[in-house]
Amino acid sequence: MSTRPSLRIRQFTVKNYRLFRDPVTFDLADGDGPADGIVVFHGDNGAGKSTALSALQLFFSGAAYFFANNEDAKDKAHHRRAAMDGYSGFGPVDRDWPFGVLDPIEVEVTFEDNTLGTMRLAVILSGPEHKVRLQRIMDGREQPIAADLRNLLATLFSTPSGGESRPWVRFDPRRRESAVPRRDEASNFESPVTDLMARNLLSLLGSFDGLDRDRWRAFVRDVTSFETLSGLEVDMFMNDVRFERRGQLVLRHSELSSGEQQVAALVAAGLTARASIIAIEEPELSLSPRNQNQLRQILQNQIDDGLVDQFFLETHSPAFDGPRVVRLARKGDKVDVARTASETPAPGLKEKAVEQGGDIQWVTQEGYTKLPPRMIEEMGVPAGGFLCFLPDDDGRWQAWRASELDEEFGIGSADRDE
Ligand SMILES: Nc1ncnc2c1ncn2[C@@H]1O[C@H](COP(=O)(O)OP(=O)(O)O)[C@@H](O)[C@H]1O
Ligand SMILES: [Mg+2]
Repeated sequence: MSTRPSLRIRQFTVKNYRLFRDPVTFDLADGDGPADGIVVFHGDNGAGKSTALSALQLFFSGAAYFFANNEDAKDKAHHRRAAMDGYSGFGPVDRDWPFGVLDPIEVEVTFEDNTLGTMRLAVILSGPEHKVRLQRIMDGREQPIAADLRNLLATLFSTPSGGESRPWVRFDPRRRESAVPRRDEASNFESPVTDLMARNLLSLLGSFDGLDRDRWRAFVRDVTSFETLSGLEVDMFMNDVRFERRGQLVLRHSELSSGEQQVAALVAAGLTARASIIAIEEPELSLSPRNQNQLRQILQNQIDDGLVDQFFLETHSPAFDGPRVVRLARKGDKVDVARTASETPAPGLKEKAVEQGGDIQWVTQEGYTKLPPRMIEEMGVPAGGFLCFLPDDDGRWQAWRASELDEEFGIGSADRDE
């Protein structure tokens, strides 16, 4: 557990960035309550979830660049009396401006930690180049960053928890072949299950840094929290992770199921990136609803252990929801963003239903239904199957087995085996 300020974000606003032309604010906390540790973005394809993540990525890369280069920029400004005081040169930000708009891209971030407060990154086009400026916002006004804060921020935005660490990383579980690059290599999407993942894990295992040792232990704990991997010993040989049940079984990483590989890769990627904030696109890929739930628990453990400050998940699955989620809805070229209750029913209601031998479960838009376990058993669909739903005379819905309904309607196949 480190004593540095947390980089957890409470709120952020994006303006003039891709489809976010008008300012859009994302609230990640209720009133004065704590910000979500696991932030969940929901919304249709194209609603702007990935774009919001890209905006945060721009903030962190721009802020790091600003602190790494701003002294230099200040000197130049002094000598040339440049009009762009406070701006530093920045690499290309491809096609990030909405068409026909040349106002600065702005990403304003309010952190949970008061030392950090609110900071606004502005990016402007300057010929073939881009320039960034970072300001502190206090009482709604821009203030230059005080000298005593500079050192702290410069560290937090480059290596917040030790030499190989970084403030922000983003994974896409679909890209199985790619890998966490070295700190000095730029990449948007990272998700290794390969040689490089193994080498990164090996660097945790072999590290003299106490935090790295915690990360290795977290890796072992997290992957073995899956039922099918529980009780296995985890270690490394050459560039491979091995899972062993003594005297019975030794598995290579590539011999795990795709879901298990996926989780091991995600967990390894997160821990070896040594990132304070981790964004994951569609973490549900390859995972059954139950394993998605388990993955959520793993992420929560990493937060509770102080290894990660915050997760941002872009997902179409409800399995990662906390009490609140962030919903994005696109209407033409506008995006509505709302912090809303997840579909979790009122407190007490579930208990009441369970008392009555039932349960309350999530039903997706497409009708994919996660039924109460007891109902699954009693309706005879432990491996999934068809159930029929009909309204009764009072308009309440009832579930029927297909065979029962056959009989009810006298279709004639009632003698068929179930
Ligand atoms: N520079 C831009 N200006 C306006 N819209 C853009 C720009 N770049 C991308 N878009 C649009 O924004 C949307 C991006 O959505 P994205 O954030 O990837 O959605 P999600 O992740 O929610 O599926 C797409 O519809 C894309 O066409
Ligand atoms: Mg997306």
